Amino acid sequence: MAMFKTLFAAVGAASIASAVPLESRQVIPNYPPNELSTGFRLVVNVTDPATDLTPSVDGWELQGIHTGAGFNDAALTSEKGQIFYHNGTAAEIRFGEGSILSDGGSPPFPFGIYVQGEDQFDATYPAEHDVSINVGSGTIGVSLLSFPDPYFYLTAHATGTFVACPRTVPYYNQEFIVVRFAYDTFDPDTALPVHNVPEGCTAITLIPECDVLPELPEGSLSSHEYAAESKCYKDVSAINWPEYGP
Ligand SMILES: *[C@@H]1O[C@H](CO)[C@@H](O)[C@H](O)[C@H]1NC(C)=O
Ligand SMILES: *[C@@H]1O[C@H](CO)[C@@H](O)[C@H](O)[C@H]1NC(C)=O
Repeated sequence: MAMFKTLFAAVGAASIASAVPLESRQVIPNYPPNELSTGFRLVVNVTDPATDLTPSVDGWELQGIHTGAGFNDAALTSEKGQIFYHNGTAAEIRFGEGSILSDGGSPPFPFGIYVQGEDQFDATYPAEHDVSINVGSGTIGVSLLSFPDPYFYLTAHATGTFVACPRTVPYYNQEFIVVRFAYDTFDPDTALPVHNVPEGCTAITLIPECDVLPELPEGSLSSHEYAAESKCYKDVSAINWPEYGP
């Protein structure tokens, strides 16, 4: 019995030693430094540069485009995008039950980021799930929660990825780079989820860049009482990703 134990221990130690290459022991987790701010803009990081659009949308920012009273489609701009904040009580934020808001209109109203569910589809592109920025609370669970990932970015509380796509927006009958949510599909061979990026689109993350949340004027219908402090980056485009990891 004692011998078996020793043998197992020795085999165990040997296989661990051979499984861990020498260099990886020296890798210390290293992440881009973040700051805290209630206000932030959402900056595009193209996660698979080989599939980037032409021109590149890396570094572009999220900006709603008006599509009707209280309705905006989520689009990207090469200029500065709109300012958002993470709304919710401390517990709601912690458990990913807050939402992402922006103020719009006069007097200012809250607008929330809405992500269509897996069973909801865009009216013009019925295979795609729309993202919009409309009057209201937004989709609960759309948040900056990133656990267990050490980076902070927008998540939809679902397995999938945001994507940027050139699409015709019927209200303008004109093409914009819009944001959609692509739910992962399940690969039965590997038992792993796989990204399901629609034709002509590129997968993106939307990363918070710290900004100043403007004060609300007297008589606003928005409130910043539950605007949480968010972890954000000073300059998203300046982050040199290969420097960070593992
Ligand atoms: C940003 O994009 C790069 C590829 O350009 C990728 O390596 C990195 O993981 C991405 N970071 C996040 C947080 O999406
Ligand atoms: C912001 O969060 C608070 C706390 O949960 C909630 O009462 C309020 O309705 C939220 N605001 C909006 C516009 O959803």
